[in-house]
Amino acid sequence: MRFTLNAQPFDFDGDPDTPLLWVIRDAAKLSGTKYGCGIGACGACTVHLDGEATRSCVLPVSSVAGKSVTTIEGLSHDRSHPVQQAWIQKDVPQCGYCQSGMVMATAALLAHNAKPTDAQIDSAITNLCRCATYQRIREAIHVAAR
Ligand code: FES
Ligand code: FES
Repeated sequence: MRFTLNAQPFDFDGDPDTPLLWVIRDAAKLSGTKYGCGIGACGACTVHLDGEATRSCVLPVSSVAGKSVTTIEGLSHDRSHPVQQAWIQKDVPQCGYCQSGMVMATAALLAHNAKPTDAQIDSAITNLCRCATYQRIREAIHVAAR
């Protein structure tokens, strides 16, 4: 099957039930998208599917045929995306493991809602961070929005 991965065509000829996360990491060799829980609960594996934040660990690759997938590597080539710049400015990450998913979820949120309130942020960004960087994430989202 074929889909678009970071603006390039990508062909996968393995098991169509393979979760998209493993196609991204093992077949496409893009390691920015992380495995946390494997059950759609933590958000570490978040990518954009046709612009929507999507948890790739529970998504069979067959369901993305013909669609467009963007990973953290495709958000920008030089960390210039406003969310990445805000993350750097606010020094958000601690261990960093959850942060690709946080950035991707935030980029999708801001594409739909350019000035989210704290309540809207809390309801849209349900990703988990074991280092509890939530306060800096919220500050960085407001910086990126500005
Ligand atoms: S690894 Fe996909 S939601 Fe946790
Ligand atoms: S920065 Fe460590 S899990 Fe979020």
